[in-house]
Amino acid sequence: MTLIILNFGGQFTHLIARRLRDSGVYAEILPADSSSQLILSYHPTGIILSGGPSSVYEQNAPMCLPEIFQLNIPILGICYGMQITSYLLGGKVVPNEHKEFGKTELKLTKQSTLFEGLDSFQIVWFSHGDSVEKIPEGFEVTSNSPTCPIASMENTNSKIYSVQFHPEVVHTQNGTKILENFALKVCQEKGDWKATEQIPTILAEISNQVKDSQVIMGISGGVDSLVAATLIEKAIGTKLHCVFINTGLLRKNEVEEVSSHLQQRGFSNLHVIDSSKLFLEKLSGVTDPEQKRKIIGHTFVEVFQNTAKELNQHNQIEFLGQGTIYPDRIESAQPTKYASKIKSHHNLTLPEDMKLKVIEPLKEFYKDEVRLLGERLEIPHNLLYRHPFPGPGLAIRILGEIDSQKISILQQADAIFIEVLRDNNYYDSTWQAFAALFPIKSVGVMGDSRTYEYIISLRAVNSVDGMTADWSKIPYDILEKASSRIVNEVRGVNRVVYDITQKPPGTIEYL
Ligand code: XMP
Repeated sequence: MTLIILNFGGQFTHLIARRLRDSGVYAEILPADSSSQLILSYHPTGIILSGGPSSVYEQNAPMCLPEIFQLNIPILGICYGMQITSYLLGGKVVPNEHKEFGKTELKLTKQSTLFEGLDSFQIVWFSHGDSVEKIPEGFEVTSNSPTCPIASMENTNSKIYSVQFHPEVVHTQNGTKILENFALKVCQEKGDWKATEQIPTILAEISNQVKDSQVIMGISGGVDSLVAATLIEKAIGTKLHCVFINTGLLRKNEVEEVSSHLQQRGFSNLHVIDSSKLFLEKLSGVTDPEQKRKIIGHTFVEVFQNTAKELNQHNQIEFLGQGTIYPDRIESAQPTKYASKIKSHHNLTLPEDMKLKVIEPLKEFYKDEVRLLGERLEIPHNLLYRHPFPGPGLAIRILGEIDSQKISILQQADAIFIEVLRDNNYYDSTWQAFAALFPIKSVGVMGDSRTYEYIISLRAVNSVDGMTADWSKIPYDILEKASSRIVNEVRGVNRVVYDITQKPPGTIEYL
């Protein structure tokens, strides 16, 4: 059983799939203009039309084919998805005087299966520049808000439902319930899909793909590459060669800690390669974030390929294993062609002449699902519940130009912050915590002397999947311990700040 989500390029499209999966409903994302034939090939129980950044009257605005409204399959339009429903079925969409963004109180005005079990006032989250002014024939308005007279509408005969707000974001209080009502009550989904039950299928896919050849895989110490490598190893055993590239941009002592963990776990073909000089040379003088990501991505693949060539003298390596997960793909604006690009993630920035074929066993999974898979694979808790660490490493936590002194300062400051969090039993209360280095100097005083040193920013967030995040409300005394230890113990830093930006509009990393 599958729900299809047509992707109009919304920032939150994948969150819709995410929420549905939490409710045990598997959802596949397809391009907005997918043909009925393609959609029907999934035998969907329902179709969701996502939000998107466009306006229906814009030239080249993404459209779905009008015929999908005739398939007799339940449809739920969200935000732009509601506007497109109205536009294609004969209603009217108009621009708002002001873009509406944020939480609002919704008043339910009519009984609806979509809102079953909900009180008549609901906090919901809007983000739209256009609104439906006139509903199509056969539709009824089911809710309004002070600023949006038509906040949802439905045609129960055709099983077409639409909401102007975003049920998929956490700020909508009962958003999951609304999506569940659509999936379970309207579409008759069972709600029994589980990530961990996909393991046999993933293993079979890997073996079928690899056949008699071999795989080289970069291990970073992060959860994703570890779980991906464990899956690959489970599927093909010693045909997997794990390469741990020391980019020089890893956390303090990470190379030693991770390689000894892997050896203990029994990864037989583990190759640790020190390329820190090469990375530093290539990044010298580079300040642009996208440039940094590209250089690191390309250098990574280059080192891999050289290693693979060497290993290939005795083996037949054809594949590159990667720990790419679902959110990596969203934020790299894939697979949709309509989303605005935010950042390119290093795991996906592969050069065109790449010789190896890619295997990504986790590409359909979210972070917490990856951890569930890891638990099922009996990977120890301390490895699975480590904070995420980005592929480009400390390069995206040092703003501006990178040099070995800045790396060393950042490694020390970061290690202290993490140690303080662990010592105070706060590490597991944050989803991700780290230090970043601001390459500007400010004045301080130490002893009787004036200092003029770098600024360290501490960032800690609470999140479910990294797509949205709130800053962690770390108790002041813990922050104070981290701050005074960093300023006292790390030479080159005389000021520590704490970042209190939410995502959105901020991102978790700085670059
Ligand atoms: P942002 O900064 O986009 O980060 O809010 C969201 C999550 O993704 C991680 N991140 C990356 N992970 N390669 C990765 O493997 C990357 O290039 C990359 N950039 C960001 C980030 O640490 C956070 O957990």
